[in-house]
Amino acid sequence: MTNNLVAVAYIAASALFILSLGGLSNQETARQGNMFGIIGMAIAFIATALSAQVNGYGILVGAIVPGAIIGSILAARVAMTSMPELVAILHSFVGLAAVLVGLATYLQPENGLTGVEATIHELEIFIGIFIGAVTFAGSVVAFGKLNGSFGSKPLMLPARHLINIGLLVGSVVLGYQFMSTANGLQPLLIMTGLACILGFLLVMGIGGADMPVVISMLNSYSGWAAAAAGFMLSNDVLIVTGALVGSSGAILSYIMCEAMNRSFVSVILGGFGEGAAAAPTGEAKPMGEATATNVEEVAELLNDAKSVVIVPGYGMAVAQAQHSVSDITKILRQRGKEVRFGIHPVAGRMPGHMNVLLAEANVPYDIVLEMDEINDDLSDTDVVLVIGANDTVNPSALDDPTSPIAGMPVMEVWKSQNVVVMKRSLGIGYAGVDNPLFYMDNNQMLFGDAKANVSALLNELAKTEKELVAA
Ligand code: TAP
Repeated sequence: MTNNLVAVAYIAASALFILSLGGLSNQETARQGNMFGIIGMAIAFIATALSAQVNGYGILVGAIVPGAIIGSILAARVAMTSMPELVAILHSFVGLAAVLVGLATYLQPENGLTGVEATIHELEIFIGIFIGAVTFAGSVVAFGKLNGSFGSKPLMLPARHLINIGLLVGSVVLGYQFMSTANGLQPLLIMTGLACILGFLLVMGIGGADMPVVISMLNSYSGWAAAAAGFMLSNDVLIVTGALVGSSGAILSYIMCEAMNRSFVSVILGGFGEGAAAAPTGEAKPMGEATATNVEEVAELLNDAKSVVIVPGYGMAVAQAQHSVSDITKILRQRGKEVRFGIHPVAGRMPGHMNVLLAEANVPYDIVLEMDEINDDLSDTDVVLVIGANDTVNPSALDDPTSPIAGMPVMEVWKSQNVVVMKRSLGIGYAGVDNPLFYMDNNQMLFGDAKANVSALLNELAKTEKELVAA
């Protein structure tokens, strides 16, 4: 393939990636967006494989075929609840790839650059490896925190900010040494180690409710790491793709920070500020008497209601209750009730987690509303069904300044006439914070697995439907 043809293919692929991002911003066009992304990636991949720079297919096939097989098996097997972990570990691969590409480019330069161009290229290598190493180590920790191996508690080392600044300054000094010696491999490798420690400490220092920002931030870093690899390899499509991922991840991080009322800088630096510093206790403290209810009573409550809002959370994802929730929605709407969903921006364990599940269960998009769109209506709502959500419906975020989630806007479900919380116990959520909602007068707890309870509720509602028809 000629260089011109490769350039044209790269432009087409870049345009498809931009269309893909545009499509993914809306649920109705998300499938189409995904398709654009797949086609763009296929074009970029084929053009790169056929370009003049590739002169042997042995290693390429040897790396790509096993990689594609392992990737396909993992993607096909992964449960929806484990998707965030998969995304986190994939970010770490991007970081690791940037480190390896950087080291390989440094060890075997083929560019024939001299003077300023050579200096810029070396700087690209150094910065690319730094970003890649931070992304790699940070993403491995995020993976561990999401799958429970590390726990959600922030690691509060004494003088942690000084340590982080020390690591940063150390990396800059090593950068100077790297640029000023002919053989800079040693400072490069030491910096890689320091950057890994920095990535590890930054993410370990972030706890509980602030994790969503970290995930989107690592998403952004992985984009910049890919862009850096693109500069090192002089590959335009990698630069464009990396910049798209980097900037969209940065925008997402900003949106997450807004949604959680957090300062971006303090989250990145891990543990600045009272709230974030308060470590979760790990267990629920008794805060009064919670009222337990049963499936029959909840069905009655729903039958009497005119307006119902369903607030799903991580527990719905774990229980895989979305299809039964969708069926309940259908029955209630057929009975003329107004049913809507209220989605908190950080509900679940990844951005858009609840939206994906509800779309999978064919819940109509127009009744799925964002927190800001529905919060004001909750005081006029007869029944709110909270299904496996906890932190995102916790009133202490608004009225307890000492809470680790203080200041985070939440779904104000307690303002409705009746609240039913479906979960297995009075236990805590991801942020490890007790929830006063469970003990409020207008709240009842429907204990048990969300799938079992929602299915039982569905049966009960269907039963009353038959009774109505018979009468
Ligand atoms: P959480 O506060 O994590 O609470 C989920 C609740 O689901 C738990 O308290 C648990 O209570 C319940 N549960 C678990 N399995 C269940 C099952 N099989 N059936 C019924 N209930 C079950 O959820 P949330 O309200 O969605 O909040 C999300 C939290 O995760 C926030 O703190 C957020 O900051 C954090 N986070 C979010 C993200 C993103 S990007 N969305 C990423 C990382 C972290 P029981 O054990 O009593 O059943």
